[in-house]
Amino acid sequence: MNIVVKNADELSRLIAEEIIKVVKENKNPVLGLATGSSPLGIYANLIKAYENGEVSFKKVKTFNLDEYVKTYEEQTYRYFMNENLFNHVDIDKKNTNFPSLDNYSHYDEMIKDNGGIDIQLLGIGGNGHIAFNEPNTSFDSLTHVTDLTEKTRSDNARFFKDISEVPTQAITMGLKSIMNAKKVVLIATGKNKADAIKKLIEDEPNESLPCSILKKHPNCTIYVDEDAYSLVK
Ligand code: F6R
Repeated sequence: MNIVVKNADELSRLIAEEIIKVVKENKNPVLGLATGSSPLGIYANLIKAYENGEVSFKKVKTFNLDEYVKTYEEQTYRYFMNENLFNHVDIDKKNTNFPSLDNYSHYDEMIKDNGGIDIQLLGIGGNGHIAFNEPNTSFDSLTHVTDLTEKTRSDNARFFKDISEVPTQAITMGLKSIMNAKKVVLIATGKNKADAIKKLIEDEPNESLPCSILKKHPNCTIYVDEDAYSLVK
């Protein structure tokens, strides 16, 4: 696992460059995408590169990590992706995929049929979750329906009117699904990620810390700012 420590703007720029490289180098690029606050700077850089004519998303297929089970249209992760990336570039929305109650049992198969994920973008939860794989999710998990922990619901409440509106369940790619990606990049910024990043770097892989599975991935880089890195010895 490689570690890059830079300020948040620099991290977003570097990861956007990695994604653009994958899009340019592959005939049929497949991106694994995340929502939340962490990827926003990366998506802004991708939009800028598209507007400057540096990259086209016409041939790109995307698979998002997760989706809430029941929520208002404006709170769905599809809506988030449309607003923050897809509506601003030349991607064909037919090529953008999200796990759902209808497709989750064959979501991993869909990814495989499209050639597998070339680069998987990840954020990280304060409790070390990746996608919505909460602590003690099996390292062998594929895409599944999961209950959200109270920690994750309260972390995400900032996007809702109040915590009672935060869904209690989501559909998420599993830890094995994520490990199947050819390359993984994780971004973590801010003090509230410092404990998870310390454990990720210092502990052995164990199921109580979902992100720790990434230590077993042959091509994984974590991009962290000074705050997120601040507890590492
Ligand atoms: C979102 C996702 C989550 C977030 C994580 C961090 O698709 O998979 O695991 O990456 O909860 O969220 P932010 O970036 O909002 O701190």
